[in-house]
Amino acid sequence: MSSDKSNKPEDQDVETTGHSWDGIQEYNNPLPRWWLWTFYATIVWGVIYTILFPAWPLVSGATAGVLGWSTRENVAQEIAAVRDANADMRQGIVDTELAALEGDPDLHGFAVNAGAAVFRNNCSQCHGSGAAGATGYPNLLDDAWLWGGTIEEIAYTVRHGIRNEDDPDARYSQMPAFGDILAEEEIETLVTHVQGLSDGGDPLSGPGGELFANNCAACHGEDARGMQDLGAPNLTDAIWLYGSDDAAIHQSISEGPFGVMPAWGERLGEAEVRAVAAYVHQLGGGEAPEESVDAPQ
Ligand code: HEC
Ligand code: HEC
Repeated sequence: MSSDKSNKPEDQDVETTGHSWDGIQEYNNPLPRWWLWTFYATIVWGVIYTILFPAWPLVSGATAGVLGWSTRENVAQEIAAVRDANADMRQGIVDTELAALEGDPDLHGFAVNAGAAVFRNNCSQCHGSGAAGATGYPNLLDDAWLWGGTIEEIAYTVRHGIRNEDDPDARYSQMPAFGDILAEEEIETLVTHVQGLSDGGDPLSGPGGELFANNCAACHGEDARGMQDLGAPNLTDAIWLYGSDDAAIHQSISEGPFGVMPAWGERLGEAEVRAVAAYVHQLGGGEAPEESVDAPQ
């Protein structure tokens, strides 16, 4: 402690804490009033906050707070609100006749949007994200329909699927494996014959005409334009599900293709089935209901 205090005039008036470092003493002044009140205010605010809102950690979770506020609860409420708002729309899709859906632009727009999401999640792995298909998986963008392109027919296909073993109402047909029925050279004749059909060849004349009439016309039609009741493709449209080269057509004829699609009715529910049918129908190749009244093309 320094004995020389004469150059510190305040020493007489101000109490010190008694601490001194190298001659520097610590005054014991009161805290500024504004600071003190702010400090007390934050304590009061903190106590009120921990009462109102979730705050103190417990073994599992935390004190809930008397307001019952929680981020998780808020999100759940928002989701429930959206679901409630959509419930009417979903019910509307189920209650509206499919053919009339397009007449209600709001409902149709909602169905197409919902259907696009259903398609992304459930259909694109087989039909492609743009629905353009792949070998064995039909393109859903074009006007060529195996089983029918009206919205009702599309919905039926989606609901029950094709040649699957799960749904007794699945669309079904089976082309025979002609490798077991016809001679190799007859099949080769038919390969050339079938390829010629895309260029306007007459299905019932030429070297393969009689073979076609006797073995193929029952399903593919005497005009070879297919039959939607049987899922038998049009062979004149240059659109090939299984490929157009010699080897692919040879394989189709000798083995008989057997494309399988799962049934979605149980998995998705009626509103989603209808929504995705509306989505597929408006992709470009959808047919109006009147067109299906005529014989399948
Ligand atoms: C596991 C693969 C697979 C999935 C997934 C799948 N499909 Fe298919 N789909 C097929 C196959 C294969 C065919 C063609 C069957 C045949 O050869 O007749 C087909 C045919 C169709 C047809 C008939 C096309 C026509 O020309 O008549 C429609 C419509 C269709 N699918 C829509 C859907 C929709 C919508 C979904 C999703 C809910 C879906 N598919 C999911 C494999 C699938
Ligand atoms: C019992 C009915 C039936 C008969 C008979 C039949 N087909 Fe088919 N054919 C089908 C069906 C159904 C498909 C489509 C199968 C599928 O989608 O998986 C098909 C598919 C094909 C394909 C593939 C078409 C494509 O787009 O890739 C060719 C080629 C074909 N048939 C040729 C013939 C020829 C040639 C004959 C006569 C020797 C014949 N079919 C007899 C029902 C039949």
